[in-house]
Amino acid sequence: MLRGSFELIGDKSISHRSIMFSSIAKGNNKISNFLMGEDCLSTISCFRKMGVDIDIVGKDVFVKGNGLRGLKAPTDILDVGNSGTTIRLIMGILAGNNFDATLIGDESIGKRPMKRVVDPLRLMGCKIEGNDDGNYTPIKIYGGNLHNIDYKMQVASAQVKSALILASLYADGKSIINEKVKSRNHTEIMLKSFGADIQVDDLKIKINPVEELFSQDIYVPGDISSAAFIIVGALITKGSEVIIKNVGLNETRTGILDVVKSMNGNIEIINQRLVSGEKVGDLLVKYSANLTATTIDKEIIPRLIDEIPIIAVLATQAEGTTIIKDAKELKVKESNRIKSVVDNLKKMGANIEELEDGMVITGKSKLDGAYIETFKDHRIAMAFSIANLICENKVKLDDTKCIDISFPGYFDLLKQLLK
Ligand code: S3P
Repeated sequence: MLRGSFELIGDKSISHRSIMFSSIAKGNNKISNFLMGEDCLSTISCFRKMGVDIDIVGKDVFVKGNGLRGLKAPTDILDVGNSGTTIRLIMGILAGNNFDATLIGDESIGKRPMKRVVDPLRLMGCKIEGNDDGNYTPIKIYGGNLHNIDYKMQVASAQVKSALILASLYADGKSIINEKVKSRNHTEIMLKSFGADIQVDDLKIKINPVEELFSQDIYVPGDISSAAFIIVGALITKGSEVIIKNVGLNETRTGILDVVKSMNGNIEIINQRLVSGEKVGDLLVKYSANLTATTIDKEIIPRLIDEIPIIAVLATQAEGTTIIKDAKELKVKESNRIKSVVDNLKKMGANIEELEDGMVITGKSKLDGAYIETFKDHRIAMAFSIANLICENKVKLDDTKCIDISFPGYFDLLKQLLK
């Protein structure tokens, strides 16, 4: 069982944005509770290569911003490692800056589609080269002289939306971005606090270019996507009771809480507050013996897209048939998460079938340990380390190093909570 309380590590999405926006703001910025995960460190490394002075002191980061037009042509190729957020958001910034830059990443990044960002940036007048007409790395961006855009998004993606908002800061007029479905809005919230001229009207975002952004002190709330593993661990292991402190509760991210409640899970928000414009609270989670199946589809998908692997594990312990659909995006994450979840859970004895855009899981099943192929996908590794908690024979993960991408110290925390 899992018992105890702990402070949650910083949010990955917000940590990336805090470095990027501080780097293009004028003045000194302090970022507290920054996530020292490998993805966020890749973002730091890219901005250092563009002449930004970034100091890491404990869990804080100090950034001397170069100003909106003050980045330097990179001294080297920009390597984003495993990070989709780094590459896609940085493309928006590079498109606005008057120099050329080349982006590469690891093997997984090499398979992830970039046209979703490249196409609208080309419509804004940016010249971009890359494999398969700019869909894959290496990507070369020739920045500068952007036109404004009125764009209807083709995919529900905060990464694409954010890249376009960032490019719009540099455009020659007012841009409008129309979302299909509401996705995480950390970019809109944080950029406004840096002085950007952004108006949000439901799915419509209007951005006026600005001369400059101004430095900020940012506190990064805890990452609900990381909390998700501990939440599910507590829900499915008998006798558990955990308090997770300092969880970011932005509504564009809390789909997992709605799902847990609809599955009859015992979870409560305590001590809710507002920090740096973002909702934060503590979560009290208890073992839940009577979990029931649910359907997850349509608008809720972007609000829990990264949590689907661990929700699938939860669904194996719920009575009835859980359907997850409208989630084709899972195929282009760090791994093909439909396949990596379905194949591995099948090996463990779950009753699970693959759909073109999701999966169907019938519970409750007794899971048994198996050899798990993680595809070096951090969220797959963590999801199956939680499934392991309810197995007699142990789960063997083919890789655990990938967990450092988003959750350094994960196994130490799990050990501390395991009673
Ligand atoms: C993220 C957006 C999501 C999410 C990713 C982080 C972000 O990706 O899966 O882990 O920080 O904007 P998409 O925008 O591709 O859906």
